[in-house]
Amino acid sequence: MDVAAIVVAAGEGERYGSRKQFCDLAGRSVAARSVDAARSIAELVVIVVPPDSIAEGHGADVVVAGGPSRAASVRAGLAAIDAPVRVVVVHDAARPLASPALFCAVVAALDDAAVDGAVPGLAIADTVKRVTGPDDPVVAETLDRSTLVAVQTPQAFVAEVLRRAHREARDATDDASLVESIGGRVVVVPGEPSNRKLTTRDDLVSMLASVEES
Ligand code: CTP
Ligand code: MG
Repeated sequence: MDVAAIVVAAGEGERYGSRKQFCDLAGRSVAARSVDAARSIAELVVIVVPPDSIAEGHGADVVVAGGPSRAASVRAGLAAIDAPVRVVVVHDAARPLASPALFCAVVAALDDAAVDGAVPGLAIADTVKRVTGPDDPVVAETLDRSTLVAVQTPQAFVAEVLRRAHREARDATDDASLVESIGGRVVVVPGEPSNRKLTTRDDLVSMLASVEES
């Protein structure tokens, strides 16, 4: 098999107030939209859901139970891909507006044999400062915005490198960080401004507006 996708949908949506990935977005669930986009490039789509929710697959080929962290859920997805595969794409179910073209772009970036992973990134418009900590923050430094990108999913990896990263590294908010931490080379392709992550109720309102526009 050439490409498999893991759509992680096992979070509790604490900031949103419910399992946001199963909300309706203009007639289809957020997770089903994410699975559909992944299908544009992947021969096998695995969805990782909360353990009490494995009855519904949202259109994926394989449904497995997730773990207590995002990284643990990705590992559950990796364990469910038993056929040999060249590339694994990992996507947050909470990003239902990622386009099929974006999935193709991250996978195509792996045609370069020196590349282990590819992530979509967007330039940052705001000035970004590092602060001393989350409570009572004091500015420690203003970062050079031209060297920063805001990273999205889908993220594509050479399958064997992603598997090794998950064996050797601990927790992180994305898979690219784990691959970086074992010395992997991860490149950035242009992200999509419309590919926002559903995090709060306000995000659903603006996503509805973009879906209705298109
Ligand atoms: N996710 C997962 N397993 C977890 C935690 C998160 O599969 N244990 C998934 C979420 O379902 C989501 C993606 O990872 O599609 C990105 O996570 P995030 O946006 O943080 O979602 P939640 O963890 O559900 O939200 P919150 O952090 O507000 O609780
Ligand atoms: Mg979370």
